Amino acid sequence: MKDFKERFYEAGLIPVIKIESVNMADGLANALRAGGLFIAEITFRTKAAPQVIEKFASFHKDITVGAGTVTTKEEVNAALSAGAQFIVSPGFNPSICEYCVERGVPVFPGVNNPSLVEQAMSMGLNSLKFFPAEVSGGVKALNALKSVYQQVSFIPTGGIQEDNIQEYLSLKNVLACGGSWVVSSELIEAGKFDEIERLIKSARRTMMGFLPVVSGDGGSRESSGLPDKVKGDRGFIEVRTPSLKRTLAMLSPLGVSVISPSEAMRGQSFVGTIITIPGIETYIHLIE
Ligand code: 3PG
Repeated sequence: MKDFKERFYEAGLIPVIKIESVNMADGLANALRAGGLFIAEITFRTKAAPQVIEKFASFHKDITVGAGTVTTKEEVNAALSAGAQFIVSPGFNPSICEYCVERGVPVFPGVNNPSLVEQAMSMGLNSLKFFPAEVSGGVKALNALKSVYQQVSFIPTGGIQEDNIQEYLSLKNVLACGGSWVVSSELIEAGKFDEIERLIKSARRTMMGFLPVVSGDGGSRESSGLPDKVKGDRGFIEVRTPSLKRTLAMLSPLGVSVISPSEAMRGQSFVGTIITIPGIETYIHLIE
């Protein structure tokens, strides 16, 4: 089984969730899955947190669920009995860290300066939340820590959005970023799970520059209106580009064929075109 470091790294984004009612847990889990995120940090900022963790742990086992904003040992116990697989705290609380380390529970305390990093390291912890990221110096601070603590990796959280996530993820000492913007409590309470899915996909596309859309998942807004054969057996890859025209020109030596002209997508909030390239057995949906 993959360790947490690997799971966090692969996800890139850890959704920090504040959820008031367990009734919304299934809708949220489905939106995370449809968006392509298989990790969830359920914060102990609501009474519903343990029930929601339990729901994820029992019925959505494909999603790695952990507890966030854990500030007492009682909350650690409640989180673990509900089925939480990891613990995140906003700050470095030695008694919570010790408690988790003794029990072999993966714990990610929050730090934002060298003294705290060293205290965490002295307990054998080398994957740490960097909180509150933006107001603690953000990318510059993480760069400064990188030269001194080469064995430590961070999960910056606090003030991270789609427009700055890539900057953080490009740092070698960043494992993943935490963020609540894709799963805001307002959207969860209003049951706007389509919007949550859209925000997650949009964040993932920004993080990577492309997004795989697997068969049956024609649900992304950009994919609506695509010919059925493109949504067919295997799915396709959505790639965002600053200029469709230039991309097509750059790909022309590869023998690119345009299946659906850009005009087909006009009238929506973007311009797109579907291409195939000989030898590559999938469709590519270019979106400008
Ligand atoms: C947290 O609990 O880790 C932060 O409140 C999340 O920060 P954000 O809301 O700025 O993403």
